[in-house]
Amino acid sequence: MNSLSSKNTRSIILSVGLLAATIVACRSEIEQTPPTPIVNSITSDERSLKVGVVNHPGQLLASNCFQCHGTNGTGLEHLAGKSANEIVNELREMSAKNPRAEIMNVHAKAYTTDEMKLIGDFFSKQ
Ligand code: HEC
Repeated sequence: MNSLSSKNTRSIILSVGLLAATIVACRSEIEQTPPTPIVNSITSDERSLKVGVVNHPGQLLASNCFQCHGTNGTGLEHLAGKSANEIVNELREMSAKNPRAEIMNVHAKAYTTDEMKLIGDFFSKQ
């Protein structure tokens, strides 16, 4: 090996070593940072909108619907206030259809009947 390529090899090894040391240092910094207590720092008025505060067992599943149907189902195609049965029946119907035909069909396919009942119950109480 001539001296140029052994210099190159040494600087490559040095660079890789420095990179590895930086990664190890960053990881240990991330692991040592304690999680921020979000829940303690908010008022009760804000609670229902905060992630991590669950007031109903179907709330997290239903939050997948908020993007299109509005927060708590008060937007497009109002889900809030519909009966739980109506929502479950519509979801079951849509889940049996071609997922490529309508956006809702593919969403509905993701849930078991028990999950649909939780989602339906959540929206019926909004
Ligand atoms: C990407 C947007 C999007 C998301 C996310 C979404 N929906 Fe929909 N949903 C629609 C659209 C658009 C319609 C109306 C057209 C249709 O039926 O496909 C609809 C229609 C519906 C209907 C029928 C309403 C009616 O009166 O006919 C129900 C029930 C429904 N969605 C429930 C849900 C539930 C429950 C979720 C969450 C699990 C959800 N949707 C997530 C877009 C969405």
